Amino acid sequence: MELMKVLVVDDELGIRTGVARVLRGFIVQVPNFDKEIHFETTEAESAEQALEIIRETPQHILLLDNKLPGMSGIEALDIISEMNLDMLTIMITAYASIETAVRATKQGAYDFLPKPFTPADLKNTVRKAAEHLVVARHARELAAEKRKVRFQFISVLAHELKAPLNAIEGYLQVLKDGSVGYDPKVVIPMVDRCLTRTEYMRKMIADLLDLTRIESGERKREIANLDLAEVARHALDTFAPEANARNITLQLHADGPVPLWGDRSEMDIVLNNLVSNAIKYNRDNGRVDVTVERRDATAVIRVADTGIGMSKADCAKLFQEFVRIKNARTKDILGSGLGLSILKKLTVMYNGDIQVESEPDKGTTFTVILRDAVQEHSPAETVKTD
Ligand SMILES: Nc1ncnc2c1ncn2[C@@H]1O[C@H](COP(=O)(O)OP(=O)(O)OP(=O)(O)O)[C@@H](O)[C@H]1O
Ligand SMILES: [Mg+2]
Repeated sequence: MELMKVLVVDDELGIRTGVARVLRGFIVQVPNFDKEIHFETTEAESAEQALEIIRETPQHILLLDNKLPGMSGIEALDIISEMNLDMLTIMITAYASIETAVRATKQGAYDFLPKPFTPADLKNTVRKAAEHLVVARHARELAAEKRKVRFQFISVLAHELKAPLNAIEGYLQVLKDGSVGYDPKVVIPMVDRCLTRTEYMRKMIADLLDLTRIESGERKREIANLDLAEVARHALDTFAPEANARNITLQLHADGPVPLWGDRSEMDIVLNNLVSNAIKYNRDNGRVDVTVERRDATAVIRVADTGIGMSKADCAKLFQEFVRIKNARTKDILGSGLGLSILKKLTVMYNGDIQVESEPDKGTTFTVILRDAVQEHSPAETVKTD
């Protein structure tokens, strides 16, 4: 239940008490927001008195007569609009001239209630205003929540970029001081460490660009009939040098082409991230098995590794931005913790799902289920896969 304060301003006692009486038992249901609104009415007989009440106790809805002794309703509206309140004003007008109506609307009046009005007229107008207030408040809350999430994201990002930058700065400072001498045996490992960190920063920036482009919907999607087997093969080729260096076997399982209507670079991101993780979090001499197949309306990508695995509790934390599982097994593995969050956003765009099964020291299997994408703004295009 929510109580909305209504202030009725009229010099006619009959109108004031009438409004108060009608609204006393009036209830507005806003089912979409699970709200039941009741009303509490306060009365004022002049604009001056109304302004005093509003300053003292913020109101939700103002029922304002125009023709009042002393200050008119329209003049009061002038002052009220400068107060920047979340209050909706409904002008009560006996003979609403177009001119008054235009002026009142310009000054922020939300609605009009022509005199004489019936209880039903009053209820309808008040219901509309109450619903509007609920929806507007909800929109404000959403916007605030979005700002908060953005801010958190940027704070974490700044922190994540500051750490490698500090490390690089530290090494450069030591090299400049000459305190460790200039022996290549000492200098080159330091330069190598700097390079590893710049690479990490570059990867992080690339991930972030992916993420913002996907989120903003700015990147133009190019939906075409893709072969997921080919996309997977390409990803395995890309990471073959990394796998070879650690003697990890990469194997693709696909019975011929696996069609999907999708965007090629989005699918590259999906497969690159899964394969990159399966190698990065694997053991030396391990395996990565990538299976792609079509199952009716869905395409399924499964990437299984023989790596360090994760506990159930760790698995539950995945898919959020910047989540990295911190333990003795992962402490020397670099990453920004963005890959899986990007993957999750992409699967949503394909009406799909992502699942993980894992066992510590045994390995992990990620299963991504995708449905054919539809090119936006081209309703003429039909999606067929066979
Ligand atoms: N195949 C896997 N086996 C074990 N742990 C994994 C696996 N894939 C992901 N993880 C865990 O999930 C975390 C998040 O993965 P994600 O890909 O989002 O980030 P990342 O690999 O740390 O960084 P990047 O943004 O560079 O991909 C990893 O840090 C790791 O702890
Ligand atoms: Mg990753």
